[in-house]
Amino acid sequence: MDHFQIIDGVLHAENVPLTRIAADVGTPVYVYSTATLSRHAQVFREGLINGGIENPHIAFAVKANPNLAVLKVLAREGYGADVVSAGEMNRALAAGIPPKDIVFSGVGKTADEIIAALKHGIGQFNIESEEEGRELSALAEIIGKRADAVLRINPDVDAQTNAKISTGKADNKFGVGLHKAPAIYARLSALPGLNMRGVALHIGSQLLNLDPLETAFTKIGKLITELRDSGYTITHVDLGGGLGVKYKAEDNPPYPDVYGEMVGRVTKGWNVQLMFEPGRVICGNAGVLLTTVIRVKPGAGNLPFTIVDAAMNDLARPALYDAWHDFEAVEPNGERFTCNIVGPVCETGDTFAMAREVDKVAQGDLAIFRTAGAYGATMASTYNSRGLVPEVLVHEDKFAIVAERIEPATILAAEHVPDWLD
Ligand code: LLP
Repeated sequence: MDHFQIIDGVLHAENVPLTRIAADVGTPVYVYSTATLSRHAQVFREGLINGGIENPHIAFAVKANPNLAVLKVLAREGYGADVVSAGEMNRALAAGIPPKDIVFSGVGKTADEIIAALKHGIGQFNIESEEEGRELSALAEIIGKRADAVLRINPDVDAQTNAKISTGKADNKFGVGLHKAPAIYARLSALPGLNMRGVALHIGSQLLNLDPLETAFTKIGKLITELRDSGYTITHVDLGGGLGVKYKAEDNPPYPDVYGEMVGRVTKGWNVQLMFEPGRVICGNAGVLLTTVIRVKPGAGNLPFTIVDAAMNDLARPALYDAWHDFEAVEPNGERFTCNIVGPVCETGDTFAMAREVDKVAQGDLAIFRTAGAYGATMASTYNSRGLVPEVLVHEDKFAIVAERIEPATILAAEHVPDWLD
């Protein structure tokens, strides 16, 4: 459930008409609902608790939506953070998330990032290779700390999602293979700078079927038994994120209570602190991209092009993954038409929808792309020398700009012509 509904003929975010945000902030602009973020955070936690998981540690995957105000909403819900760079770590800290509740994932942590995380007292490092573990141990020793860490396992499971967002197949760059894991775990456990306390996995994103997760978790359960039988202590298991959301009407994602039931069943008797890294399921449906129709251009055949002022640089998902985002008029007039929806960027990939039946819109009309709260603004670029899209957070009948529009002139001002070209 989200809080983007038509009230008196106008699409609102909670109690704020999107027409008001467009008038005040301009378009394109991302609009997030505080109530939706909080609700999703609560529903996800309740799903786990109802599944029998006492006291889950939930670390929001900051990459999905790193906006400071969004992180603050989730911090208030008691969420920790899963970060993959010093930049994300600093955002989580700035949002007031306690360092101990932050998990540091990622295959390419640099020495500088590891040192910064150690100094901040980050709660857990999810180690992705033996080489990384050795470096972490050495750096921790220099600083005089012992890093709490888990080893990320690549369970070689097909997540049945877009290949670009699958992470748990043997040929993906993430984690260490199951068969190699016991020996690597043993060697890392012997290092003086590490406190190895468990394992982690994350097999992919936008999963609409729980079977691959169940298969992967079952493999991890066997590994835990094997490691314990060899005398190692396993107190923490990080099950990652990946739960999908509804982008289009026929998508049927498993709800958090069904996920919680599965996790509770598969992990029964593990006797560990379970950890989770949800991203999309928390924030995907908590945001829309608000845009203005620049003009409608006749196309070859009878399908017009609806050219909107948002483009692939603002919302990259359709161009990158052929992703679907519902398109709706902010003030629908009841008529529908079939068109192609495109942005102004100069490549054919800048296409949001082909031959799609949508609300009839005309020049100057406002419209939204739904389910844009995850992997939206965070993946924006300045391609075609466009600005960086701003973000607005709504709370009941209030709204605030939580990320300013970065104008092309600001970006130009940061560029310099060397004196030999003067
Ligand atoms: N944990 C790890 C280690 C991850 O790599 C990810 C996502 C997550 C958690 C959160 O996954 P989620 O719950 O959001 O599925 N840009 C793509 C998605 C990339 C996901 C990368 N990793 C998209 O727009 O669909």
